[in-house]
Amino acid sequence: MELTVNGQRHSLDIESDMPLLWVLRDELGMMGPKFGCGIGACGACTVLIDGVPERSCALPVQYVEGAVTTIDGLSGDGVLTAVQEAWIAEQVAQCGYCQAGQIMSATALLASNPAPSDADIDEAMSGNLCRCGTYPRIRTAIKRAASTQSARS
Ligand code: FES
Ligand code: FES
Repeated sequence: MELTVNGQRHSLDIESDMPLLWVLRDELGMMGPKFGCGIGACGACTVLIDGVPERSCALPVQYVEGAVTTIDGLSGDGVLTAVQEAWIAEQVAQCGYCQAGQIMSATALLASNPAPSDADIDEAMSGNLCRCGTYPRIRTAIKRAASTQSARS
């Protein structure tokens, strides 16, 4: 099976019903996406597939059509994205466990909606749960990243 992850093509000898998250973590050693609930309910495992956020724990690899991006590949050239910078500036993370998934969802949101309202943010981020309750800081960081992106464009 062929899979493109973070710009690299991989040939994998795996069962086709293996969840994408297992492939990423156990076969490719990419530890960015986290295992939380395993049933598509918490968002910890979120990756982008052709720019669209997907729950990798609930997606058999045979159904992956498109290029996968994990947080490990977000800043491919070593330069942090505006979203990553904003997360640091706003000190969003507490335990950090949910944050890779949060950042991937926020990245997809800003790619499709460069100036999201509070309601847009709440809707786009509603599938990413944070047991530490960092939601207010996530919202502030997304707004900061939106301003940075618009200043750069
Ligand atoms: S681990 Fe995938 S949604 Fe919770
Ligand atoms: S920062 Fe701890 S779960 Fe979100």
